[in-house]
Amino acid sequence: MSCCNQKTCPPTPTYSVVGTPQGVSAVQEILALANRPEVISFGGGLPAPEGFPVREIAEACEWVLKTQGPRSLQYSAVEGMPELRELLARRETEKGVPTSADEVQLTTGSQQGLDLLARLFCDKGSKVLVESPTYLGALSAFKLSQPEFVELPVDEEGLNPAAMGEECRGARFAYIMPTFQNPTGRTLSLERRKLLAEKAREYNFWILEDNPYGEIWYDEEPPVSLRAFCPERVVSLQTMSKVLAPGFRLGYFIGPKHVLAAMAEMKQAMDLHTATFTQLVTARVLNEGLFKEHLPMVRALYKSHAECMLKALDDFMPKRDDIEWTHPKGGMFIWLRLPESIDSADLLKKVLATDVPAAFVPGAPFFAHEPKRNYCRLSFVTVPNEKIIAGVKSIADTLKSML
Ligand SMILES: Cc1ncc(COP(=O)(O)O)c(C=O)c1O
Repeated sequence: MSCCNQKTCPPTPTYSVVGTPQGVSAVQEILALANRPEVISFGGGLPAPEGFPVREIAEACEWVLKTQGPRSLQYSAVEGMPELRELLARRETEKGVPTSADEVQLTTGSQQGLDLLARLFCDKGSKVLVESPTYLGALSAFKLSQPEFVELPVDEEGLNPAAMGEECRGARFAYIMPTFQNPTGRTLSLERRKLLAEKAREYNFWILEDNPYGEIWYDEEPPVSLRAFCPERVVSLQTMSKVLAPGFRLGYFIGPKHVLAAMAEMKQAMDLHTATFTQLVTARVLNEGLFKEHLPMVRALYKSHAECMLKALDDFMPKRDDIEWTHPKGGMFIWLRLPESIDSADLLKKVLATDVPAAFVPGAPFFAHEPKRNYCRLSFVTVPNEKIIAGVKSIADTLKSML
């Protein structure tokens, strides 16, 4: 029996922070159509399931339960399990930024880190600097704190710190994905990273570096973390989602201890701590050196998909100056620019109605302000290569019919 009595119950609250003038929900409606099994979908941001080390994780689970069963099932410290913090700090140190375990705070996915940071740094109306375009999940998380977004200047090489000026003064933080950015796949050069750090000092803002894709480089390691250039004002957010398993919901941030202490207090109120068992399994997997064998396999897999999609774009897209796409050196995304007369949401609807239905994410929701409607984000990692070719051809043919 339902307890709901419209006369006596208070009204159901509504919630709409993700809704933007350009309509994220409209895109979600279209993408719901893309869930049909026959659709070749470049829409998701999911890692390739064949990259999950299922057997190794099963062994690690067994080991954890055998050797420290009760501890692994118990509540634990909000900062995270000491052995995992130690391992993550060591990894960061090996990558060129000396880090101690007490500079690492575990989070429940890096998405929780975005939420925590926005709550800590922002009040209603606070200025927050974002790339243009930027990760749409970050915009949603930040919007809960109702900040005022300022879009930063970008060019073909990504964020252009040389063009950053007075508009940055007074900002609470800049949200930056320097490596294999979502949605563009672009990577900031070492010089730009250094200059960004100088700008942060000059205009006195924090940097929130989001780096979920940094480990998935194809041929060459990307430049070092922004923490290398101004550790006193960078909080670096990382995750196991793209290198191990997103279902673990295991992220972490690395930053100054006083920021971590404030964050820990907030996280305690939210969820007490990140799952103990998952942390111990992850520590075991890292300790066993899994990444040494596992990551090269994932990198090779993603590289082959990226190359296949780049070739298909070259082969099938109309040859025009106003159609171009990024050439990522790692990560999961290609960002396609179309002529300004084309609305990518219309293109999506049309491609979904063809005999070879294909899907992507229209670019508009990735912009904090004025949406640019002539962009598409293409994710290539979960689609087999022969389907990548068919899907890109279908998108290109539909586009030609619209031009
Ligand atoms: C740029 C970026 N940041 C954060 C996240 C959230 O990742 P998770 O919460 O799984 O760690 C994602 C997920 O796709 C992402 O692309």
